[in-house]
Amino acid sequence: MAERKLLVLFGSQTGTAQDTAERIGREAKRHHFLCRVEALDSYRVAQLVDEILVVFVCATTGQGDPPDNMKNFWRFIFRRNLPPTSLCQMDYAVLGLGDSSYPKFNFVAKKLHKRLLQLGGSPLLPVALGDDQHDLGPDAVIDPWLLDLWGRILPLYPLPPGLDIIGPDVLLPSKFTLHFLDECVSGCDEDQSQQEVTREAPSELHPFAAQMVSNQRVTAESHFQDVRLIEFDVSGSGIEYRAGDVVMIQPQNAPEDVQQFCQLLRLDPDRCFTLKPSEPETSLPALLPQPCTVRHLVTCYLDISCVPRRSFFELLSCFSPNELEREKLQEFSSAQGQEELYSYCNRPRRTILEVLCDFPHTTCAVPHDYLLDLFPRIQPRAFSIASSMLALPNRIQILLAVVRYKTRLSKPRRGLCSTWLASLSPQQGDVRVPLWVKRGGMTFPAEPDTPVIMIGPGTGVAPFRAAIQERVVQGRKGNYLFFGCRQKSKDFYCGAEWEELVSRGCLTLFTAFSRDQEGKIYVQHRIEENKGLVWGLLSHGNAHIYLAGNAKQMPAAVTEALKSVFQSEGDLSTSEAEEYLTALERSHRFQVETWS
Ligand code: 2AM
Repeated sequence: MAERKLLVLFGSQTGTAQDTAERIGREAKRHHFLCRVEALDSYRVAQLVDEILVVFVCATTGQGDPPDNMKNFWRFIFRRNLPPTSLCQMDYAVLGLGDSSYPKFNFVAKKLHKRLLQLGGSPLLPVALGDDQHDLGPDAVIDPWLLDLWGRILPLYPLPPGLDIIGPDVLLPSKFTLHFLDECVSGCDEDQSQQEVTREAPSELHPFAAQMVSNQRVTAESHFQDVRLIEFDVSGSGIEYRAGDVVMIQPQNAPEDVQQFCQLLRLDPDRCFTLKPSEPETSLPALLPQPCTVRHLVTCYLDISCVPRRSFFELLSCFSPNELEREKLQEFSSAQGQEELYSYCNRPRRTILEVLCDFPHTTCAVPHDYLLDLFPRIQPRAFSIASSMLALPNRIQILLAVVRYKTRLSKPRRGLCSTWLASLSPQQGDVRVPLWVKRGGMTFPAEPDTPVIMIGPGTGVAPFRAAIQERVVQGRKGNYLFFGCRQKSKDFYCGAEWEELVSRGCLTLFTAFSRDQEGKIYVQHRIEENKGLVWGLLSHGNAHIYLAGNAKQMPAAVTEALKSVFQSEGDLSTSEAEEYLTALERSHRFQVETWS
């Protein structure tokens, strides 16, 4: 009989693809497969030629890009010199996770599926296109696809004689066991982030503990939104960056949440433990010291403020000693219960900690060995760098909007990372923030004479602040900025800086203060008012044009304005204007970075 070994490889940016990959891993174990689940870039890709059964779970990010933890794999698999029979013994399936509101929906999964076929692999079934926009989330596509998958796999790899599928009510072993120590050893609380330079550049596995040197509110106290200009000292880190790059920040839970969590789970935050993997091939989490305190684990590693996924309810239900709570948890983890789960959790953005409070009997019965199975890892957050190394050596600045909003729940919702960063005060001593830098999607022209038109309302202006600082140091002219905010007196952040650059002749600035007059004025109105200039810079100056900011209606409205400029000034028809914009995009002369 063929060896019953299944490999699940994932490329995940926000954790959803990883969660799905782990779900497939659990299902595989219930089907008695030997199964490994790994991030694509942690897997030794040269071994792929020996694999016989692989499920790929891949998210598509931003403008059709692969997630960070599959970037090396992506480069490798598209090498031209791979023989077309490389994967001829592999049965495979690709599950994609994407968002159909973006143009390149599930691009990574589709492209990978084709490439594996080209390399001689045999697809077990068509690629799954999970969609965040679906009312019930990506599971609406994933559930039936997984049923089909097992329907394909089992005839090829039948269950060993005498064994049945292990039912969902049977608890699988935990990934790790926690061994509590009688006494604490020094270093248990230490951040694993480096504070000094090592040979490697700081990365997700080895962040740099940067000192926060300032944290300044840049919107008026009376303004509805708290926006901060935060500065980090990265001296000694070896970090280098250019305009358009992104800083990744690894956030932490608030002390009061950590305390509440420990109380609910009957954990002593000061206890020390060591972790042992239950299976030899499972590696230990790089960000955790060994031994580690419970407080450090909960503060820096377990995400207790995110909205729980369905798999959380599935596992939690297994621990419940209380019938009522167990029934409810089982319902939330069943296919039929998804609508109810959505209105209980996703719509009001209920957090894991709040859910735990709703299921007190179950929560206090959670075996501590399962902490790392039950609670997801805190995900790092990406921020466009708002400063230039050339202007401000050894420093990184970000513009941070503190996320706070209401849902039907009485307590306002808060963003974990922005709330944490905003709460830190460099005046209180040595405040350290784990971070690293990665290449951003935007690149600015190398040619010194190429003008740049930058459209960045709100915190969308962050990467343009970096570019303008860089270009001013380099003595480059042709900097055009369209900035929009509500009121000149409330949220015109960095206004004094812009005005100073304008007075020195280094910047041409167009402002749209949407609420300083009767009708709304937005950046797109300023673009249309200055259509002659915009068209001239594009058609004669070979200008590059950039757009960044909130991904609601703004990007579409600005794109429409640009097309209307092309039509009226360039005498183009609707379809010609469309083609002109596509051509600009293809040649990287029109670059967009939006976030929600
Ligand atoms: P508003 O809040 O007054 O509607 C930064 O958030 C700026 O972007 C604000 O001035 C905001 O205006 C504006 N904005 C909101 N919707 C927009 C849209 N569709 N296009 C351009 N700007 C928009």
